[in-house]
Amino acid sequence: MSFYLPESVDCNGELFKVFITKEQIDARIELLGKKLDKDFEDKHPIFIGILNGAFIFLADLMRSVTIPCEVDFMKLSSYGDEKVSSGQVTELKEIDAKVKGRHVILVEDIVDTGLSMKYMVEKMKKHNPASVSVITLLHKKEATKHDVQVDYVGFEIPTKFVLGYGLDYAQEGRNLAQIYALHEEE
Ligand code: PRP
Repeated sequence: MSFYLPESVDCNGELFKVFITKEQIDARIELLGKKLDKDFEDKHPIFIGILNGAFIFLADLMRSVTIPCEVDFMKLSSYGDEKVSSGQVTELKEIDAKVKGRHVILVEDIVDTGLSMKYMVEKMKKHNPASVSVITLLHKKEATKHDVQVDYVGFEIPTKFVLGYGLDYAQEGRNLAQIYALHEEE
């Protein structure tokens, strides 16, 4: 399979430049998979992807683990079509799986302010799982205002607007195979 890997892209009239390459993403996911294999051996975890953004990361992450595991999805929205969080989480799809007594791994593409993940962790804990862990491909640590649990991180990134590999700008750009950052004039 070949991928479209341009150095820069136009998305909804804005210029984005490559920020994390496909090679870097693949290498990091391989390491994360190995770590999850070890930490969840004999635990039969259930990955819960938070749609839409997490779908590509989750697909690659799950294929990098070798232990028996399951998957389900939850859909949230906090950004709408904007570059900044609305400050409110809207639940658009509930999980179907029964998570009581299970080891749950919540999967995000990005933790930014932390609002969505805080909401998800609190929600999961109400279902009495055996454990709740959080993995995110990207973490904007400096932008995180909410007290949120993050157990596994692909990349800590500065406060930039990023696109691709599942992340969108007004719903476009999710299909890009690497991560791009909004180009800011100096
Ligand atoms: C994005 C992203 C996370 C959340 C992170 O979702 O996928 O779920 O924002 O931001 P936060 O830490 O400030 O809550 P978005 O609401 O844009 O929906 P999407 O996943 O459908 O793109």
